[in-house]
Amino acid sequence: MKAALSRVEAFMTGSTNRRRPGIFYAAPAFGLSLLFLWFWINRPHEQPVFYPPPRPVNAPEQEVVKEDWDFVRDARNLLMTDARCDEAFPELYKEINRAVEVRKGDHVTSKELDKIMKVPGYMRVMIYDQQLYILDVAEVAINLREQATLHAIHRALITSPEPLPNIEFVFMSDDIAAGTPEAKWAYSRQSNETANWLMPDFGYWSWPEPKIGSYLEVQMKATAMDAKLSWKKKTNKLLWRGASMELLVREQLVNASRGHEWADVKIFSWEEEGAKDSNSEILTMDQHCAYKYVAHTEGVSYSARLQNLQNCNSVIVSHKLRWLQHHHHLMVSSGPNQNFVEVDADFGNLAETMEGLLARDEESERIARNSVRVFKEHYLTPAAETCYWRKLVRGYASVSFEPEFFDSKGAWRGLPVESYVLERKLTWKPH
Ligand SMILES: *[C@@H]1O[C@H](CO)[C@@H](O)[C@H](O)[C@H]1NC(C)=O
Ligand SMILES: *[C@@H]1O[C@H](CO)[C@@H](O)[C@H](O)[C@H]1NC(C)=O
Repeated sequence: MKAALSRVEAFMTGSTNRRRPGIFYAAPAFGLSLLFLWFWINRPHEQPVFYPPPRPVNAPEQEVVKEDWDFVRDARNLLMTDARCDEAFPELYKEINRAVEVRKGDHVTSKELDKIMKVPGYMRVMIYDQQLYILDVAEVAINLREQATLHAIHRALITSPEPLPNIEFVFMSDDIAAGTPEAKWAYSRQSNETANWLMPDFGYWSWPEPKIGSYLEVQMKATAMDAKLSWKKKTNKLLWRGASMELLVREQLVNASRGHEWADVKIFSWEEEGAKDSNSEILTMDQHCAYKYVAHTEGVSYSARLQNLQNCNSVIVSHKLRWLQHHHHLMVSSGPNQNFVEVDADFGNLAETMEGLLARDEESERIARNSVRVFKEHYLTPAAETCYWRKLVRGYASVSFEPEFFDSKGAWRGLPVESYVLERKLTWKPH
């Protein structure tokens, strides 16, 4: 014991006459340090913490969902469970799955939402315990679109038979919601705008300004028109009415159809036509159904006219679209399931396409029938819209943060939607 102590003393004081035992201890200590350093460098690196945890790498193979859909029985059923939504609309959720995939390794944060500019049409909202709260809103709204979208989300929440996760998100009600990389909910996107989450268009609630009306109204009136007019009795022409808005593609449509007997294509101005007592150039949505062929063009970005035309038993003739909506992947331009006709982006081959269609009337009838079956009688029903909203909430929740209900001072962060849709502002004096 004494000998050992004196050895340590000698080592500590650097005594030179006992050099050997000093090296005897120092060498293994140095070796151990090297070993420790090696383990430190090679330690597993910290993983980012996700909420909720990422899916297991070897996810069980997905069960094949059997389609179970009956238009008459199910069209207005807003009470479907998540499992029923899968059975009823197996092909509806492609855009949601795509957006989830984009953010799987890089979840949406509250700070990210803070960075989104409050441009016209901006609205920040929260879903908490299946209730909708408005957190922030831009000074300028885009017509009544944000109101329509709030009502639509609210309806999907309060009819959900199962609880939905808490989320916070920003939605944009302008035609274009792009340019920056933050996650935003929008009505449309270009294929390269992968940060956008597509939500159903405002028109699925109602589009009152041009008197197109509620979506169910559009569907009921189109059905009534088609019940009156069989395919054979429809006008054998291509119809289009719209404002030019100085858009190139609309001018191209007018030029490509000029002088052709099969064309009934006219540009009008809302100001001039609206001022007349009887504005014969403005056609209601159901009057479009009286034609065998209806043309579709994009507007400032997408055009909300499409989902209305898809309720007619008519052939939609559209140029190649640049802007996508939540249901566009269901549009098929060839083969036995063809449900619309696609022409060049500049309508360059419109004349030859129309001549081909007119020569094969039975095939046109089949395309129109496919469109009704896929859209009006299935994927564009109120039941489908409600299922889509709830899937969107679940999908977004799987790759984003969970919101705080209270702010740092303990106050409520949001105004319940029930009051907001009445006052249409976040603050007011009690009266
Ligand atoms: C997508 O492409 C369009 C034109 O092709 C371009 O103007 C736009 O900036 C692009 N957006 C993104 C997010 O890359
Ligand atoms: C459409 O036709 C008019 C009249 O012929 C012409 O002035 C105009 O340049 C054409 N527009 C396009 C986009 O081709």
